[in-house]
Amino acid sequence: MNYKRLKRHLIQLDTVDSTNNYAANLLKTSIVANGTTVMTKRQTAGKGQRGNSWTTEDGKNLILSIILFPDLQTKETINLTLAISLAVYKTISHYLAAVSIKWPNDILASEKKIAGILIENQLRGDRISSSIVGIGINVNQENFEAGINATSFKKELNQDFNLQDLFSELFINLDFYMNLLMEKNFKILLSRYYERMYRINVPSDFEDSSGRFRGTIKGIDEAGKLIVTREGISTYYDLKEIKFI
Ligand code: BTN
Repeated sequence: MNYKRLKRHLIQLDTVDSTNNYAANLLKTSIVANGTTVMTKRQTAGKGQRGNSWTTEDGKNLILSIILFPDLQTKETINLTLAISLAVYKTISHYLAAVSIKWPNDILASEKKIAGILIENQLRGDRISSSIVGIGINVNQENFEAGINATSFKKELNQDFNLQDLFSELFINLDFYMNLLMEKNFKILLSRYYERMYRINVPSDFEDSSGRFRGTIKGIDEAGKLIVTREGISTYYDLKEIKFI
């Protein structure tokens, strides 16, 4: 397989605290190729967004971090989020129907979370010098903690999937979207993101610091903030400032 942008170099572990941490250490201690991936069967301290933890059953899911050198200015960071979300979306929607991207980068199947993404960028001046892109995709796990609105390939299709095959597909899609990103096709990335965005232009219930309200997602701004209108007025939200009800 010829990749346009990434080099397929896969480091497979049995157990690690967090593949993102392992990747960060690799970056500090060695010369790493664009696309180097750390994958594990088990994480003991998996990290999620908003300081949450990410826990999954051993050996059943895709747990990996990819080291990328996206060559972006920090003000262009949102485009990396779009590219990665679209690559994960494409991999999952090849098999499942009703897949969507919930801002900023949760992937849903039938309105339940099937994948999470944690991007940690290293900055040098006004540029991103490297990115650690952590991806967790629920594949063969059938049971999730009560109260967690999650699903998996197995839950949706009642069938086991080969994790290596799925990773190969994901890697091809990441290479495709990294190429779009590095060619600065930001408008294409944004329009594809909008086509797949959960509840865009659909009146929905939210909660912000002022309480619950009904509003409508209109899109995201250049900094990646979520634009929600309420009675004709638009508000721009950061990740921790709003949640869906
Ligand atoms: C989220 O909260 O939705 C983001 C979850 C990201 C989980 C993945 S699993 C592989 C990588 N290593 C981590 O510690 N986290 C990410």
